Amino acid sequence: MQQTPQGEARDGEGAGHVAAQALARWSDRPGPLLPILHEIQEAVGYIPGEVVPQIARGLNLSRAEVHGVISYYHHFRTEAPARHVIQVCRAESCQAMGAEALYGHVLRRTGCEGQSGPGHACRGADGRYQVEPVYCLGLCAASPAVMIGQTLHARVDASRFDALIDALEEGKR
Ligand code: FES
Repeated sequence: MQQTPQGEARDGEGAGHVAAQALARWSDRPGPLLPILHEIQEAVGYIPGEVVPQIARGLNLSRAEVHGVISYYHHFRTEAPARHVIQVCRAESCQAMGAEALYGHVLRRTGCEGQSGPGHACRGADGRYQVEPVYCLGLCAASPAVMIGQTLHARVDASRFDALIDALEEGKR
């Protein structure tokens, strides 16, 4: 059993069921692939490789076409994420407000500095945290922006980030 970034325990084996439900909901609508992938990642935390043939069959696409879309969008994960996923915006508006320094602080505080991870992520050695660079969280007017799990935080600096992590560790969030 794993913990998704949404804080919801899900078994990766349930992905086939989630994919079947998403296919039933979207396959007759225009442009179904992206919403299906979003639904699976939201429920399971990533897109397990086992569901790719199922999606391809359901949408009459090749597996390569489905893989191509998954790998094109950095948003989609192909491995189970760490317990806590932290997305730090590194786009222009946040950069102008100190996002690069904040990103370095986030990596140090979470033990992810110098670590690698799936895709563009850095994952701490203890598997608790995963830090992902993202390019706009839609909070440009309140930069720098960070998302922890499914919660957006605006105007984050190092001390505010530390307070958020302290609260998370104490189980308050
Ligand atoms: S640039 Fe960071 S939220 Fe838009």
